[in-house]
Amino acid sequence: MAGGSGTRLWPLSRAGYPKQFLVLSGNSSLFQQAAERLAALAEPGLAVAAPLVVGNEEHRFLVLEQLREVRLTPGAVLLEPCGRNTAPAVTLAALQAALEGRDPILVVTPADQTVTDPAAFAAAMRQAARRAADGSLVVLGVTPDRPETGYGYIRSAGEVVQAFVEKPDLPTAQRYLSEGGYSWNAGMFVMRASSWLQALAEFRPDILAATEAAFAQRQQDSVFVRPDKTLFAAVPSESVDYAVMERCPGSAHPLAMVPLSAGWNDLGAWEAVWQVGEKDASGNVTRGDALLSNCRNTLVHAGSRLVAAVGVENVMVVETPDAVLVIDRARSQEVKAIVERLQKEG
Ligand code: GDD
Ligand code: MG
Repeated sequence: MAGGSGTRLWPLSRAGYPKQFLVLSGNSSLFQQAAERLAALAEPGLAVAAPLVVGNEEHRFLVLEQLREVRLTPGAVLLEPCGRNTAPAVTLAALQAALEGRDPILVVTPADQTVTDPAAFAAAMRQAARRAADGSLVVLGVTPDRPETGYGYIRSAGEVVQAFVEKPDLPTAQRYLSEGGYSWNAGMFVMRASSWLQALAEFRPDILAATEAAFAQRQQDSVFVRPDKTLFAAVPSESVDYAVMERCPGSAHPLAMVPLSAGWNDLGAWEAVWQVGEKDASGNVTRGDALLSNCRNTLVHAGSRLVAAVGVENVMVVETPDAVLVIDRARSQEVKAIVERLQKEG
């Protein structure tokens, strides 16, 4: 899933070049890292097909070029003419995967996360794939360490998911943390294509029918697959989490959870980029041409010019050719509001 807009990482993340295609940690983009993690799941007895990428029409060349750089060839690149959130995106992939007449297991992953322990990631995903073979929908659960409201919460007993709550409010998230027994949803799902389509048929037949209609009228141009523009625009916009996962517990579509302990991080905002970044002795993370003196716990991202900082603490500076962000580390979520203002005021 590579169609998000990543607004909280403005000004580096832009509509034409959103965060999944940026190099924010290590030497490759988040999208490249995600694709490589999936390719590495193959082992004797477990074949991994070429990846299906679902993303925005506008980014088709970025997708191909970045995959080529890491020597991967996509099975197909499903191009959305407009974003309809993740439920339709996963449905396009499931319909494409089902074309070959087999019923493959889909390993669905966001293209904008980091994982520091690839071996643990692979072990968890293989376990999830084995679990999904019987028709279960499988989610990957991460042990929470703060009452984050931007995530889904999973209450489970062993592998069985008892409840799934997408993006609870702060008091609820705090309660989950103090009660214990909850995991964060890592945003990754493992399931047979048919299991997804059947669950969607039950919970959101409108999304299934509209996406099927757009897919039926698709145009194919080598690896690019384009659902019909007008029909896809009519698909209801909804996330996987709200459309299906929240409704599974207690239904005929069981949800299982496999724990993921692999240094997972959703690089949602600049604070998370600081968190995963390599720090100097004073806790500063720098990239590009940055000159620091007596600074502590800062992030300085110099994109095109020299950036110098003196005597600041817990401040993040992100410099690009046409915009500079200076922000308190504790307020990195508020970038979203700036982007919304910019969009409104043009
Ligand atoms: N193709 C496509 N089309 N991809 C999309 C679209 C779309 O319309 N919208 C989002 N994506 C991609 C994003 O690029 C990202 O890789 C992934 O789908 C998830 O979307 P987000 O918008 O980042 O979701 P979220 O962070 O609010 O919540 C999800 O992830 C959390 C963990 O990071 C949920 O699954 C939560 O439950 C989960 O905790
Ligand atoms: Mg996200």
